[in-house]
Amino acid sequence: MHAIVLERYGGPEVLTRAECADPQPGDGEVLVELRAAALNWHDCLVRQGRYPYALPRIIGSDGAGVRRDTGEEVIIAPSLNWGDDERVPGPEHELLGDLRDGTYAELVAIPEQNLRPKPAGWTFAEAAALPLAGLTAHRALFARGQVRAGETVLVLGAGGGVAGIGIALARMAGARVLVTTSSAANLEHARELGAEAGVLYTDAAWPERVRELAGPAGIDVAFDSVGSTWNDALGALRPGGRLVCFGATAGASCEVDVRRFYFSQQTILGTTLGSPADLSALLRLLDADRDWRPTIDRVLPLDRAGEAHALMEARAHTGKIVLAM
Ligand SMILES: NC(=O)c1ccc[n+]([C@@H]2O[C@H](COP(=O)([O-])OP(=O)(O)OC[C@H]3O[C@@H](n4cnc5c(N)ncnc54)[C@H](OP(=O)(O)O)[C@@H]3O)[C@@H](O)[C@H]2O)c1
Repeated sequence: MHAIVLERYGGPEVLTRAECADPQPGDGEVLVELRAAALNWHDCLVRQGRYPYALPRIIGSDGAGVRRDTGEEVIIAPSLNWGDDERVPGPEHELLGDLRDGTYAELVAIPEQNLRPKPAGWTFAEAAALPLAGLTAHRALFARGQVRAGETVLVLGAGGGVAGIGIALARMAGARVLVTTSSAANLEHARELGAEAGVLYTDAAWPERVRELAGPAGIDVAFDSVGSTWNDALGALRPGGRLVCFGATAGASCEVDVRRFYFSQQTILGTTLGSPADLSALLRLLDADRDWRPTIDRVLPLDRAGEAHALMEARAHTGKIVLAM
């Protein structure tokens, strides 16, 4: 089969096409003929060597394709071996494409329990764009953030892949959504996804602006993949509000006004990926809103994975970048 094999860490140019042996499915696993794989920021971090996994490795966590044994069209859940505790993944938990070969390939071997039917009417590109971002956003909003209908959610960095899906899922659940983003075009796109309004985080006074937009009820939940702006995000939240964090795009450390935090009775929640139960809940929510699809920025052939990574690093995208086989 053809695949993009990471043989050394580096820039997007290290992603080149190679001819590889077909993967051999183990017990309880099946072969999927991939039709599409979607990029996530995590793929760039792996390629850069931020997580020093053993190489060579076929990277990629998100995919959709056709089961070779049954011909069924499927999506692949990228969260492997979650374990028995719904509250937290166990020690065997891993992301597809980290410790075992992933989806930048024509074929992938995957535990059967990680396959779900492709949502009816979706293209393979749309289906590949869903799993990692959808699972992460769903767990962050509902299992961890406990977002309820009528609450107000602030999505930070609305132009991101997970953020865009987060806006849509929060709206489907009946929440009101406000956003921060970096450009007027991204703000317009967030509105199209269902956000009511937003502010540019390039304005240093964005926490105050966003509180004005929220009105007297305030913001209940901040949906945060930015990381380093916790102090501002907590400042934007109402007393008693929850900040749920799953990323550190702008940096992994920050200073927080601890007194304001505890006097405000706020909560900071960490989350990562999602369990099989989170995936089922995500698919049930989407089943109730059959018109929604993930936003696809563009689809490129698998051979152009390096170009796709360069686009992602240049932040020259809105929505998901997808590779087609
Ligand atoms: N823990 C997990 O399970 C998990 C799962 C998925 C993703 N993640 C993490 O979540 C983050 C987002 O992933 P992604 O795939 O959605 O990446 P992405 O598509 O590259 O989105 C990142 C977004 O971050 C925003 N941003 C960057 N700097 C910012 C700042 N200073 N203030 C506010 N927003 C800022 C930008 O929003 P604008 O375009 O609006 O400016 C950008 O579009 C990454 O750090 C990723 O590693 C974690």
